[in-house]
Amino acid sequence: MKIKNLEHLIKLAKESNMKAFVPYSKFRVGAALLMNSGNIYTGCNVEFSDYIALHAEVNAIGSAINSGETNIIAVVVYSNSSPPVLPCGSCRQKLYEFSLLNKQDISVIAINDKEEKIEMKLSELLPSGEIKVGKK
Ligand code: THU
Ligand code: ZN
Repeated sequence: MKIKNLEHLIKLAKESNMKAFVPYSKFRVGAALLMNSGNIYTGCNVEFSDYIALHAEVNAIGSAINSGETNIIAVVVYSNSSPPVLPCGSCRQKLYEFSLLNKQDISVIAINDKEEKIEMKLSELLPSGEIKVGKK
């Protein structure tokens, strides 16, 4: 899928990356979700002294849900690592829940400050995804 205005989505993910609260790892991550509506929701990672971190992708999902939107079509993850960091297993699953709900694959774009870019589909990152809750 060709994303209209990918550069803008990347810019917003970068801005969110710069807001990360990472006193422990110092590893900044920013995420920007493009919704089917065209709206964009962002999030950065937030770390606590119990070492449990809120991942940038999860905060962006929370922002979308808090605005009443679930229809995610693309996510940009911005970091300063090389190669650029892709969503972790837990975040892949969380994104998958919305992919299933909306019967639509999600484009995942990981990018860094050197503009190295990895573009994949969520279905490639999480093949055979499923939701177990409620199944007998
Ligand atoms: N992190 C994210 O926010 N998203 C990712 O895709 C990878 C990891 C955060 C969690 C933690 O604050 C830091 O990066 C180091 O793992
Ligand atoms: Zn994660």
